[in-house]
Amino acid sequence: MLTVALSKGRILDETVDLFERCGINCENIRNDNRKLIITNPEEGMKFILAKPFDVPTYVEHGVADLGVVGKDILLEQEKDVYELLDLGLGYCRLVVAGPRGKKGYPRHLKIATKFPRAAEKYYLEKGVEVEVIKLHGSVELAPLLGLSDKIVDIVSTGNTLRQNNLIELETISEITARLIANRVSFRLKGESINKLVEILEKNLEGNKKDDKNN
Ligand code: PRP
Repeated sequence: MLTVALSKGRILDETVDLFERCGINCENIRNDNRKLIITNPEEGMKFILAKPFDVPTYVEHGVADLGVVGKDILLEQEKDVYELLDLGLGYCRLVVAGPRGKKGYPRHLKIATKFPRAAEKYYLEKGVEVEVIKLHGSVELAPLLGLSDKIVDIVSTGNTLRQNNLIELETISEITARLIANRVSFRLKGESINKLVEILEKNLEGNKKDDKNN
């Protein structure tokens, strides 16, 4: 039995579409379902529906063999897990954003973010001293209220920034969902994990065409 932790929210529907293309029955795994553990004995699979920020924790502790989670969260947490595959879904960017005309760095730069470690690392590499303020969501509020000068956050459509008169200033990283594995599971269940990786790889958006020729 392979246990897979899936991220609820934005990337869940695309993840389920991918697994279904692979011929894996994903009935009942959608955002509107309140069930948190869905077992699929015929396929030898169990799905856990978790908050995205918790997926690497379930995988690191081995209660899930595999997980699907955004690269933003992996960059932030640096958990001890294997990153097996870029699933190419849920594309967005981790960026620095702020009000127009705030391109430079004030002497005491304040950054609000849900990604404090990623933000600190980014500015450390640039040699810029910052004060990082950790928030849990709606980070765009911070520069509007004067809590911070800028934010480090995810941009997808750009609508949230636009509607709040903020602009993207610097791109930190392009983000997509990744398949991750527990290190011990990868050793003990390597055969079934590799089989799944192979099927997933064939059915990734960009590879669907090639598949017809094989
Ligand atoms: C994310 C992110 C931005 C928004 C960007 O927040 O933190 O606020 O989405 O998306 P957009 O570019 O398509 O507008 P999310 O909606 O996940 O919730 P949160 O604000 O509660 O963190």
